[in-house]
Amino acid sequence: MIQPHGGLLIERENPSYSLENIQKEIELSNAELSDLELIGIGGYSPLTGFLGKADYESVVESMRLQDGTVWSIPITLAITEEKAAELRIGEKVKLVHRGTVYGVLELEEIYRPNKAKEARLVYQTEDLAHPGVKKLFEKPNLYASGPITLIRRTNKGMFSSFFFDPKETRAQFASLGWKTIVGFQTRNPVHRAHEYIQKCALEIVDGLFLNPLVGETKEDDIPADIRMKSYQVLLEHYYPNDRVFLGVFPAAMRYAGPREAIFHAIVRKNFGCTHFIVGRDHAGVGNYYGTYDAQKIFLQFTNEELGITPLFFEHSFYCTKCEAMASTKTCPHESEYHVILSGTKVREMLRNGEMPPSTFSRPEVVQVLMDGLKQTVGGASR
Ligand code: ADX
Repeated sequence: MIQPHGGLLIERENPSYSLENIQKEIELSNAELSDLELIGIGGYSPLTGFLGKADYESVVESMRLQDGTVWSIPITLAITEEKAAELRIGEKVKLVHRGTVYGVLELEEIYRPNKAKEARLVYQTEDLAHPGVKKLFEKPNLYASGPITLIRRTNKGMFSSFFFDPKETRAQFASLGWKTIVGFQTRNPVHRAHEYIQKCALEIVDGLFLNPLVGETKEDDIPADIRMKSYQVLLEHYYPNDRVFLGVFPAAMRYAGPREAIFHAIVRKNFGCTHFIVGRDHAGVGNYYGTYDAQKIFLQFTNEELGITPLFFEHSFYCTKCEAMASTKTCPHESEYHVILSGTKVREMLRNGEMPPSTFSRPEVVQVLMDGLKQTVGGASR
């Protein structure tokens, strides 16, 4: 079984932790709540808490923790000036979301981040139209740091039977007899192009961990509950059920493109994956990143440092001349033969009750999306 990032699977959960004598509290955002849980269950190993100043600056500047371990996205906890004035370094603070205590922070530091620098280096832009940058600038202006203890899990609702801790996925993969496992991150329904690259990968590894992100996404991404139904129907009809494992990834989407691809890969390694798919514009949004920047960034690290093997795929599509799924690597035909639909176009079609072609998306998937979107105003992304 592959080693967790940093060598040790972090476990910082203690449901019977005593909250007696802890009066002060910090209110968590949705994204911070997901992060708390992921730290607690070891998804973010080797992190044991929210980043302190030195690690934060090192991650922002050089994509490494201070000790040199690769880490590309700052995992931070934002607090206001008023809250900071109330807190004392060294004390324990309850981590609360809408009136419920989910964890405790041992407060080690309060510091002021350089948000403009964080935006520039992590997101490559300070443009507030970028959803990740917007969230960054909307957060309070100070960061609180220190190790955490996870006391309570979030309510997973309809996802509860698809939520697994890293130690559980690791045990599952072992019991399935899989030695090589490819992780697949997605915030979209699985269309034919996604299916194609997953199945190309499945030709060379033992199993696929389909790991859709169900944490906070931007408004026009298809809601996670609808997507979950679409994954299930797809797997039922088109995948060998002994070679795929479906589990949700509860983190928030950052839309940080290349940096987030590294982060996504490392976290999937903690869940037991040996390989990770990076296709076109991974975790991108709008036109902020080049189509293959999220692949190129992997070249900045050695295989040993990452520990997980990225599998890169070109932009894939159905070619009507090949009568098959293909990419520019395998298809010689002009783009007029390629079935490529933008997220906006798909959204528009679904809203108008028009079926995207089966060369773009499986009809069973389209049906689920249409039924689901009838009840919401959401749609496909990008
Ligand atoms: S992401 O934001 O979660 O990365 P998405 O769900 O669209 O977005 O993509 C999931 C994975 O599939 C990413 O690795 C992405 O690069 C890849 N991907 C999406 N569409 C294509 C495509 N047409 N060709 C190749 N790779 C793709």
